[in-house]
Amino acid sequence: MKAFVYRGPGQKALEERPIPVLEAPTDAIVKITRTTICGTDLHILKGDVPSCPPGRILGHEGVGVIETVGSAVTAFKPRDRVLISCISACGKCEFCRKLMYSHCSTGGWILGNTIDGTQAEYVRTPYADSSLYHIPAGADEEALVMLSDILPTGFECGVLNGKVQPGNTVAIVGAGPIGLAALLTAQFYSPAEIIMIDLDENRLEVAMKFGATAAVNSADGKAVEAVLKLTNGRGVDTVIEAVGIPATFELCQKLVAAGGTIANIGVHGSKVDLHLENLWDRNVTITTRLVDTVSTPMLLNILRSHKFDPRLLITHRFKLAQILEAYETFAHAAKTQALKVLIET
Ligand SMILES: NC(=O)c1ccc[n+]([C@@H]2O[C@H](COP(=O)([O-])OP(=O)(O)OC[C@H]3O[C@@H](n4cnc5c(N)ncnc54)[C@H](O)[C@@H]3O)[C@@H](O)[C@H]2O)c1
Ligand SMILES: [Zn+2]
Ligand SMILES: [Zn+2]
Repeated sequence: MKAFVYRGPGQKALEERPIPVLEAPTDAIVKITRTTICGTDLHILKGDVPSCPPGRILGHEGVGVIETVGSAVTAFKPRDRVLISCISACGKCEFCRKLMYSHCSTGGWILGNTIDGTQAEYVRTPYADSSLYHIPAGADEEALVMLSDILPTGFECGVLNGKVQPGNTVAIVGAGPIGLAALLTAQFYSPAEIIMIDLDENRLEVAMKFGATAAVNSADGKAVEAVLKLTNGRGVDTVIEAVGIPATFELCQKLVAAGGTIANIGVHGSKVDLHLENLWDRNVTITTRLVDTVSTPMLLNILRSHKFDPRLLITHRFKLAQILEAYETFAHAAKTQALKVLIET
């Protein structure tokens, strides 16, 4: 089968690989129909993710059709159409029983990291019963690919942790796929204002189409003034950090209103200052987490009711044979205006 393989920092290849086989009775083999590329895959290619060794097939998002299941799998059978979660969960360990699937002691984010992933014609998915989801009849498969990772991430790490409430004010720093997923799912709660902050004018325009009430380009260094002006000097009740660099986490600390919440989503590679000298008396909450994908069943229901359209996030389409081109397009988003690139097998 064709598979996209990480070959070490800065090196990647589309290779011919054997079709995976069942390794445990709880496994399923899924024939991939659609997958996509995540910003995290770009981090791996740069060599930023030491748990992912050269030779690994990348990808932790996708939908497909069950080819075979292990003897212990009871919820799925061959030919079932499934959504693959970016998080594999055994369902039995201490963390799974607390619904912290991302910290599953033998699972978590392993696909396209410590085991081969979804950017291939077939993938082996461990713990199939608790890590795959049936695709509802009539559901749009392209939209569903957005439910493997980015929508639960924006929703759980941003919207739920950020305690977005009806009538509240929200600022989202970073209008990439994750920030935009937070923007789409924040609207489930009808906040009064959602202010998007980014440096990329195109992404801010997209955000306004997705339901942002204001867009602030922070390139001039005056984002704090702009947000204070929009909120009568109060700041916002929820600030969602969806970039992952020190400057944006520090910006969040200046935007949060008294009693508000800073919900960090960004993956941070370097140390960030926490300004307790400014925040200690502000009654604020700071949260950070990995996505657990516990909200996936709820997101599937909302998708089925057509209350939101995750297909809006798809800007480009490729065949698996063109995946190197898909990576180039995704990696140069400022130039190509890419958000999510859909890859069909
Ligand atoms: N916590 C989790 O479980 C989890 C899961 C998935 C992704 N993430 C992280 O979420 C973050 C966002 O992911 P993404 O795929 O949307 O990334 P992305 O790189 O596509 O988007 C980041 C956006 O931030 C903007 N930006 C960069 N510097 C900025 C600055 N100084 N001020 C304002 N905006 C700035 C960029 O223009 C871009 O639009 C990443 O750090 C990613 O690793 C976290
Ligand atoms: Zn991802
Ligand atoms: Zn577990």
